[in-house]
Amino acid sequence: MSEKELVRFQIDGLEVEAEKGQMLLPVALEYGFEIPHLCYHEAVSPYGACRLCLVEVTKGGRTRMTTSCNYPVDAGIEVATATENVLRARRMILEMLLARAPHSETILTMARSAGIEETRFPIIDDADGCILCGLCERVCREVVGANAITFVNRGDKREMAPPFWDPMACIACGACVYVCPTDCIKMEEQGDERTIVRWKRTLKMQPCKSCGKPFAPQFQLNWIVDRVQLPKDFFELCPVCRKQKK
Ligand code: SF4
Ligand code: SF4
Ligand code: FES
Repeated sequence: MSEKELVRFQIDGLEVEAEKGQMLLPVALEYGFEIPHLCYHEAVSPYGACRLCLVEVTKGGRTRMTTSCNYPVDAGIEVATATENVLRARRMILEMLLARAPHSETILTMARSAGIEETRFPIIDDADGCILCGLCERVCREVVGANAITFVNRGDKREMAPPFWDPMACIACGACVYVCPTDCIKMEEQGDERTIVRWKRTLKMQPCKSCGKPFAPQFQLNWIVDRVQLPKDFFELCPVCRKQKK
């Protein structure tokens, strides 16, 4: 196996080390630098959508502002995480995000800690909290493998949705609910049904053969059984009863 090349560089004057090509944001976070970010998640590829993770990078005598979540580190670069330019740009971005998601606790908290109480931008009509960060889509595609949602439309009509608003590929696993940074994808369970509210997907849940409680959508369990070729009766028991049986 080939050895990974380590490179040394500076963040806010501190000498740090990382694998060449690793993205800058996770390295900086690991070293304890606080860089706000909303569309980055270690489980999926970076996308650079929210722009909050801006930093200044000096390389070969030239300094430029860049998003750190999708910037591959290299030897000798000098990174500044909180210059006046960076802070000004970040405040502007937070105001724009507030116009999209005026009720998101995460964004309100970030804005307050940057000294912003309200946005100068008009609140988007029907602002529903989605900041178009694309995290739900990447998790659904790259981690779950369901490909159930995608960006649709252009310009100010752009939104995240199931293709053609048909949620038939959604297995209601809840992974997108878990990662959404503004908490605008809700999951509800009533009786033996689970609904992913934002995608208008409702699925019947399978009852546990032992305790009788519904525990996961049948469609999701069949989907997993087919994909990883498990025995058909693999999901007869809920996780609690299965543990007790061991
Ligand atoms: S709940 Fe549906 S849309 Fe969300 S990650 Fe799971 S399959 Fe994808
Ligand atoms: S629904 Fe949430 S995770 Fe998906 S794009 Fe919008 S803000 Fe991001
Ligand atoms: S975290 Fe880097 S652009 Fe969103």
